[in-house]
Formats: sequence, C-alpha cells, structure tokens
Amino acid sequence: MPMAQIASHSREETLALAGRFAQLLKGGEIIFLRGPIGAGKTVFVKGVAAALGLKSSPTSASFSLMKEYKNKQCRLFHIDLFRLEEGEVFNLGFEEMLEDERAIILAEWPDPIRHMLPADRLEMDFILKEGDERLIALQSFGRVSHALLEGLCKAANQ
Ligand SMILES: Nc1ncnc2c1ncn2[C@@H]1O[C@H](COP(=O)(O)OP(=O)(O)O)[C@@H](O)[C@H]1O
Ligand SMILES: [Mg+2]
Repeated sequence: MPMAQIASHSREETLALAGRFAQLLKGGEIIFLRGPIGAGKTVFVKGVAAALGLKSSPTSASFSLMKEYKNKQCRLFHIDLFRLEEGEVFNLGFEEMLEDERAIILAEWPDPIRHMLPADRLEMDFILKEGDERLIALQSFGRVSHALLEGLCKAANQ
C-alpha cells in the first residue's frame, strides 16, 4: 500500500494543500480523514469544497452527520460520524450518496460506514504536533486512490 507524509505548519497551509488536492478530484473518490479533534480534518474538507466552488446545500439526512456541497458539475459529501456506533447509522440517508458513482466522499470518523463503501479509498491521518504544526500521513488502497496520493505528493512538493 503506497504511503506518504506531508507537513503543514498553519491552517493556511492546510487550506492551500486542500486546494491543490481539489484539482485532482474527478468524482467518485473516497477519502477517510482520521485523527484527534482539532487536528484539521474539517479545515481540509472545507478547503476542498471552497476550492471547487461548491456551496453547502441541506440534505435530507441528519445535517450534523452529513453535509452536501454541490454545483452543476459535482457533488461532495462531508460526513462526520464522531462517536457514532455502527448500529446507529441506519436510515441516515446515505443510500442516495452511495448510488451516485460520481460523488466525492470525505468522511471523518468513517468506521461505522466503512463496510458500506467501496474498498478503494485514500486514508489521511492528521497528526497533531507542536503548536500549529500537523503531519498528514497518507495511505492509498486501490487504483483511484493511488493516483490521488501520487498527485497530492507531487503538488505538495511544488
Ligand atoms: N496546520 C493546521 N492545519 C489545520 N488546522 C490548523 C492548523 N494549525 C492550527 N489549526 C487550527 O486547528 C483547528 C482544526 O479544527 P478542525 O478542522 O475542526 O479539526 P477536526 O475536524 O480535525 O476536529 C482550527 O481551529 C484551525 O484553525
Ligand atoms: Mg471535524
């Protein structure tokens, strides 16, 4: 499984990385975001949505667990299942998201739904360091996510 690490020294640097990452997305990608509270997972997701010019739109599902961002060309789902157990995620409206092969899925605390998702995913582990420093460890599982990881590393080194 390909792996890599990228350092961030500020919120702005994480947003810039999210912006470069956004340019690699074509639709159909699945990204898991792991790491403790305050590590920067949500900052990253919002940076991706902003870079793609997407607007938040209310979904039928519980809005605190899943937010949809979209425009005419693409849909991005931001899921956050913090503290949820597997048995608690039924009937939350994930079906529609899962039926759309072009949807981009970014999931914080994804374990309760991982069995519902295709195996090809990029895992991003946000590790807290001193002050505003973060280490983002990447691991890819599958063809689509391998390409994403490679593209992100190239972009991060520019
Ligand atoms: N390098 C960094 N990258 C991202 N966020 C950072 C960084 N340094 C400090 N921060 C701050 O840390 C917090 C991260 O919050 P958030 O993204 O909601 O965390 P999480 O979703 O992982 O719980 C924000 O207040 C942000 O301003
Ligand atoms: Mg968060």
